[in-house]
Amino acid sequence: MIKLLIFGPSGSMGTLISKLALKDGEINVVGACDVEKIGKKLGDIVSENDPNDIIISNTHELDDLINDTSPDIAIDFTIAEATEKNCLICVRHGIRCVIGTTGLSNEFLNQFKALVLEKKAPAVISSNMATGVNVFFKMLSLLSKHLEDWDIEIIETHHHRKRDSPSGTALTAAKIVCDTIGCELSDVVKYGRERGPNKREIGAKNEIGIHSIRAGDIVGDHTVLYAGSGERIEFKHQAHNRNCFATGAIKAIKFLANAKENKIYTTQEVLGL
Ligand SMILES: NC(=O)c1ccc[n+]([C@@H]2O[C@H](COP(=O)([O-])OP(=O)(O)OC[C@H]3O[C@@H](n4cnc5c(N)ncnc54)[C@H](OP(=O)(O)O)[C@@H]3O)[C@@H](O)[C@H]2O)c1
Repeated sequence: MIKLLIFGPSGSMGTLISKLALKDGEINVVGACDVEKIGKKLGDIVSENDPNDIIISNTHELDDLINDTSPDIAIDFTIAEATEKNCLICVRHGIRCVIGTTGLSNEFLNQFKALVLEKKAPAVISSNMATGVNVFFKMLSLLSKHLEDWDIEIIETHHHRKRDSPSGTALTAAKIVCDTIGCELSDVVKYGRERGPNKREIGAKNEIGIHSIRAGDIVGDHTVLYAGSGERIEFKHQAHNRNCFATGAIKAIKFLANAKENKIYTTQEVLGL
């Protein structure tokens, strides 16, 4: 059995992941940490039977919780500031982490990567754990290879509660396009576009524009627009609900439990794509 620690079980993703983990015969949930609902029962919060009667702990008591429960794996879909703090504590204890939170800083990623090696605690970090999105990523390489001279723009749409912008998935898509056509993301990416004092500045040749729309309860749409002379392709992925991410997260947990290399894995590797 994989001993699992869950961060943020009262969040949208945290609730779904907790439900699936509590029902899974290969996973034993040994702890849960949040900033709210401290002292309440995990099973009650996520409306699922919990054989261990886990009580939600305060994140300030994380070291004690880890010492008491010895988790093998921690899963974190919360907010970047929380993930950066909590997952550094986990990896220092040698716990393997599955991180789905987006908007993580490069400083954190560098520090985390070094600790993964030092503590021999592999991890999965992925901006999007849905199977469809990862096939979408794979197809982007092919499209970009054949259409490298066309204008390429990325449009992402999410619910109005989303804290980061652009989405981690849009940034991953842009990185794949750049890697395929041989340019640096920081050299070509343009976030949104507005008319500058010099009208010529709104020309978009040799740029990859990323545009973020925030509206209602939209779970997540990503379109990569390839536009040539007299024709275009709009390549689109739409998530209808969060189950696709949560089932991907459970796959990542099981993959990581058996991972041999001390590195940060992607969902593409988890899914064997
Ligand atoms: N990789 C993927 O496949 C994937 C898919 C979907 C979403 N995401 C990402 O996952 C993250 C969460 O998304 P969501 O839709 O579930 O957001 P959400 O509903 O806002 O959930 C985030 C939860 O984390 C809690 N939290 C804040 N600080 C915490 C701490 N120190 N320790 C533990 N929990 C803490 C929040 O509590 P408060 O509300 O009280 O602050 C909230 O309940 C986002 O970064 C999102 O972009 C990734």
